[in-house]
Amino acid sequence: MVKIALIGAAGQIGTPLSLLCKASDLFDEISLYDIVHVPGIATDLMHIDTRANVTGFLPQNGGLRKALNGADIIVVTAGIARKPGMTRDEADDRLLDLFKTNASIIHDIFIEVAATCPNAISCVVTNPVNSTVPVAAEALKKAGVFDPTRLFGVTTLDVVRASTFVAQALGGNAEPKQFKVPVIGGHSGATILPLYSQAQPAVNLNEEQLAPVIHRVQFGGDEIVKSKQGAGSATTCMAYAGFRFIKAILSAWNGNPVTEEAYVYLPGISGGEAIASQLGVDYFAVKIVLGKTGATKVLPIGDLSENEMKLLEIALGELKTNISTGVSFTSV
Ligand code: LMR
Repeated sequence: MVKIALIGAAGQIGTPLSLLCKASDLFDEISLYDIVHVPGIATDLMHIDTRANVTGFLPQNGGLRKALNGADIIVVTAGIARKPGMTRDEADDRLLDLFKTNASIIHDIFIEVAATCPNAISCVVTNPVNSTVPVAAEALKKAGVFDPTRLFGVTTLDVVRASTFVAQALGGNAEPKQFKVPVIGGHSGATILPLYSQAQPAVNLNEEQLAPVIHRVQFGGDEIVKSKQGAGSATTCMAYAGFRFIKAILSAWNGNPVTEEAYVYLPGISGGEAIASQLGVDYFAVKIVLGKTGATKVLPIGDLSENEMKLLEIALGELKTNISTGVSFTSV
């Protein structure tokens, strides 16, 4: 029996993600939670001929608790999306508003996770991930149930973009999925660091040709925000990426360990402590090995090119601010 709880399921990421989950036939139970619409979405999904039982819960009558009850995996997409003009700059008041709104939502959700299903594997999609994951961790810590091997910031979209954009840059018949590119750091702008020097197969582009590809991976989110002209940010590609991460968790759960990148609390996972002290940050997106109960190991970052070393310094500077914003958040 596997139960997944999708928190924020009426949103533009949550709804396509719920469809992918229901269509996959990988779950026995799918619970949807949001402040509107989810009972209807659940009824709609229940007309699909896969085995999962789908239920929708609104906030009334302890709906969040009911949605989380017995969940093995939780995916949180709840919150507001970035709008045009919102930079990634911490000094941008509008971005601070985005953080405050979403941090408060994440805090409240994880207080309930701590009380209802502290052993579930939690995946945070809600932005800004660099800060919302520390908010979630602090809420779990305060309740005395924080297990770093079970809390993930979902950065899979950066990995998906790193393959997609390099294939597009190479043109011709380059198949995006053939490129495995590690992406480390965080999940916003300059904190995202695709390591093309470690790409498999090797990418045949020089530094000058790679620079715009790296920039596009880092700021791919902005491309969508601009193109949607006020209607939000990445939704369907984020649902696709989130579902890829969920499938990796399930594969590991079923006894087939997999590696994926995710934004994690390094000191709490085997192999992560050394990286945390080397980099001077506790939260970082890295390649992790997923096992039956969550992350079992953080894999080494490996050798970086000279340019990647420079980009890492920039990423770390921004990340430190993002992390302390999240850690010091206190809900009002
Ligand atoms: C993305 O990477 O596209 C998303 O995290 C949305 C955003 O605001 O950039």
